[in-house]
This record gives sequence, structure tokens and C-alpha cells, in this order.
Amino acid sequence: MGLFSKKDRAAEQLPPPQHIAIIMDGNGRWAKKRGLPRTAGHAAGAESFRRIANYCRTLGVRYLTVYAFSTENWKRSQEEVGGIMTLLQRYLEEALRDMEKNKVHFVFFGDLTKLSPELQELCRDAEERSRQYHEVQVNFCLNYGGRDEIVHGVRRFAREVARGERTPEELDENLFSQYLYSAGVPDPELIIRPSGEQRISNFLLWQSAYSEYVFMDVLWPDFGPRDLDEAISQFHRRNRRFGGAK
Ligand code: FPP
Repeated sequence: MGLFSKKDRAAEQLPPPQHIAIIMDGNGRWAKKRGLPRTAGHAAGAESFRRIANYCRTLGVRYLTVYAFSTENWKRSQEEVGGIMTLLQRYLEEALRDMEKNKVHFVFFGDLTKLSPELQELCRDAEERSRQYHEVQVNFCLNYGGRDEIVHGVRRFAREVARGERTPEELDENLFSQYLYSAGVPDPELIIRPSGEQRISNFLLWQSAYSEYVFMDVLWPDFGPRDLDEAISQFHRRNRRFGGAK
């Protein structure tokens, strides 16, 4: 199977996590090291995403969630923000074109109302047209923040209480999960952050309560299948107790 022998692939020996989430970090530093503009780093990051999404499918990962643009990323230069939006637009156009071949269900986590009308429409189209596919689901976090997601969820629930459709006593952890962008998606078992940073950066705050974090030194554009294998192997070596005793 191409580059790696089966023996190298510790990850192949155990089933992969059903839901992997990734903070695609390090694009800027990757570009800087090469004397390239930051947008070139994001373009390489988008390629890396394509490669890893395909590999996740090969491994049988059911859900892949990626942090593509945070509620804080608007602070970057207009040129950089525009560059990322263009890459997303191109990717979604391509995904819509290849939808029947790839059979990926696309879902968007985040407040999309701040995106351009064209991008909002592409997101809506991709989500609607891919709803029929159930094998692989890619969740794009776009204008996403974990705190923002919780505030949105609380607001929605409060509105329903105000209309008399719910009572505050009904609310428990399971019900509240249904008010989040990730409604219906199981929590990620594994969250990977490449690039050497060891922070959560407002990513999946509610959903990561019991996730295993793997921090890796490789920059996202250089992150390949072998790195994903390594992260999955680390995951399998963890002893997950969910607050219980060993
Ligand atoms: C973080 O690296 C990365 C982002 C804020 C943007 C991620 C976007 C992409 C990978 C492209 C999106 C397109 C598709 C199709 C997925 P950074 O810029 O913060 O890197 P640095 O910490 O080295 O500066």
C-alpha cells in the first residue's frame, strides 16, 4: 500500500477513533520558513487537509472535524482572511462538483452569517446536497468559537423557554448538546494539534470534556498519514477512565 509497509502502521492494528478533530496549526510558520506569504502556507494547509481527509476515509474514521477559521481569526490582515476564504470557496466548489464520487457529508460548525453571501450559499448547498451520505462526515469549523457556540446554544434554549416550549428543569447535559452546532455528532475521542503549540484555543470546549489530546511538533502543511498513524497510536496507548477508577 504505497509508502508504508503494514508493519509500520501501528494504527492499522486497532480500529481508529470514530471521531477525530484537528486544529490545523502552523501554516504561517511553514510559509515564513520558506520566505513565502502566509497565504501560501494556508494553501499548503488546504492540501494537507485533502490528504488527511482521504486518509481518514481509508482508515474508516466516521467523523473528521477541522478548525478552519476561528471567531478570533478576523483579527488577521484583510489579505490573509481573504486568502483563507478563497481557499475554502475553491474547496467547496470542488467538493460540490465531486460530491457523487466522494460521498462525504459536509457540516459546518460556526456562525456563518458573518461570511460572504457566496460562501454562505456554498456552505448551505454543500450541507444540503451531501445530507444523503452517511459513511464519512467532515465538520468544518468556520467562524467558530467554543464559547460562542455555547452562548448561541443558551440563547436558543432561552428563547424556547420564553415561548413556553421548554422548562429550565428539562435541561441536562444530553439535551444541551442538542443546542450546539455539533448536535447529533458524538464527541471526538481524539483531538490533534500539530505545530508545537499546546493550547485548546477555544476549540470544541463542550465536546472535548473527555477527549484525548495529542500535541505534535510537525507544522500542519507537513502533517501526513504517518503523523496521523502516530497520533492514533498514542491515543491507543492512553488509559481512558472518564473520571472512574482504573
Ligand atoms: C492556523 O495556522 C491556521 C488557520 C488559522 C487557517 C486554517 C486554514 C486552512 C488550512 C485552509 C482552509 C481550507 C481548507 C480547504 C481546509 P496559523 O496561520 O495560525 O499558523 P502560525 O501559527 O504558524 O502562524
